[in-house]
Amino acid sequence: MATIVEPTVFELSSPGRRGVRMPASDVPETALPPRQLLRSDLPLPELAEVDVVRHYTKLSKFNYSVDDGFYPLGSCTMKYNPKINEDTCRLPGFLFTHPLQPIETVQGNLALMYELQEWLKEISGFAGITLQPAAGAHGEFTGVLIMNAYHKSRSDTKRTKMLIPDAAHGTNPASVGMLGMSVVTIPSDPRGNVDLKALEAACDDTVVGMMLTNPNTLGLFDENIEKVIELVHNCGGLMYGDGANLNPLLGVVRPGDLGFDVMHFNLHKTFSVPHGGGGPGSGPVGVSQTLVDFLPAPLVGIIEEGDDDEMAPLYGFVTPKKSIGRMKAFHGHFGGGLVRAYTYIAMHGPDGLKDIAQYSVLNANYLQARLRETYEIPYHRICMHEFVAEGKFEGSDVRALDISKRLMDYGFHPPTNYFPLIVPEALMIEPTETENKDTLDRFADALIKIAEEAKSQPDLLHNAPLTTKFGRMDEVKAARELVLCCWLPENYSDQ
Ligand SMILES: Cc1ncc(COP(=O)(O)O)c(C=O)c1O
Repeated sequence: MATIVEPTVFELSSPGRRGVRMPASDVPETALPPRQLLRSDLPLPELAEVDVVRHYTKLSKFNYSVDDGFYPLGSCTMKYNPKINEDTCRLPGFLFTHPLQPIETVQGNLALMYELQEWLKEISGFAGITLQPAAGAHGEFTGVLIMNAYHKSRSDTKRTKMLIPDAAHGTNPASVGMLGMSVVTIPSDPRGNVDLKALEAACDDTVVGMMLTNPNTLGLFDENIEKVIELVHNCGGLMYGDGANLNPLLGVVRPGDLGFDVMHFNLHKTFSVPHGGGGPGSGPVGVSQTLVDFLPAPLVGIIEEGDDDEMAPLYGFVTPKKSIGRMKAFHGHFGGGLVRAYTYIAMHGPDGLKDIAQYSVLNANYLQARLRETYEIPYHRICMHEFVAEGKFEGSDVRALDISKRLMDYGFHPPTNYFPLIVPEALMIEPTETENKDTLDRFADALIKIAEEAKSQPDLLHNAPLTTKFGRMDEVKAARELVLCCWLPENYSDQ
């Protein structure tokens, strides 16, 4: 008897199959582009619509997302993204507008962007905001350009060094490197704060400023933050805040009030814009009063005041006096990023935002307390929204990677591994405020069970995951032989 199985191959194309039929053209024919711009053959797969739908639905089931389950990926704030965001960003007035339309026809869009700028100012304590940057790293690059432009505008041209703590995210030194500046690494002290002595020694008149994530990537609020900022300011440097960890500060502390001069927001973390897999992110940048003139252009502004009774203000675009220029085509990720973040802030209001911060801290501390006896947690402090544990046990060759892979068998997305670099076998766990106690308990139970397995059956962990669609990948091969193109027919050549 023939075995009837579903095809598992990726190549499903069969000549002549069709998904769509093009309607007859209702516009006059025009000449084709020159021959050298034309291909004789376009190797597109030939499939019926139903095959395409089944193919992608099947692939989507191999995936794991925050709508499937707990996603404690530290430093990423993988909170649940409310579905109302999806409704608002698909409202026809937002969806079917074009960034080149005359401003009179997109006043609603501009009003939303203007209000979002104002709300982000209020939340962060900054004096000006650009919504242009496309992600956190792009925001960093924008912020560092602004810091540089400020020093240059004062003919202070000796400044080429950026101070960056050893706990920092890799994008910080990368952003600085892209501008040809050098990085001076500042160590952390035994409590996980910036080491003040090392900072003091590094501060001089060649310092552009310091980039600091606070709370840092250990999930710790710097206990000497005011002193850190004072030292940097005293040597003429500017203070950059990496706002990736803004979630636990919402409605509680404003980085602008602490003395930060520049900061990026990750709307795709703090303000529930979906992320992962490369985008679409959104990394607005806030600056203090001293730096507003350097913000990228254009910003959304009121170009004609309205009155209280009938006339609404006219929104349009304005250019700051010493602007560093445009950082992104058009005006940032409008629908995917800005409308969703606006919805989220409007829905929560000031009290709701504060709840987000407080519950994110409560959840992280609850998990930290449940795991403390089983896993080494190197910094013995109350954490903020995340904490870092060591994924290793005495007398065992089980590593953080094995623990993470085994967690997948228990139905959880792994935490961030091997970051920050200053914790050996780091497991960085960020539960976020959107998880309930049952989920946190199930996750803690799984990690405790895995610690027992690490002692009694280490090979179970070395071979994990055992229940997922795909087993453990050859990560070296994946890194060395990176295939970035997802599909090409076997005989395809682009020559
Ligand atoms: C602390 C920190 N800074 C910066 C970034 C960069 O943000 P993005 O991924 O949006 O470029 C991240 C991202 O994970 C981060 O965790």
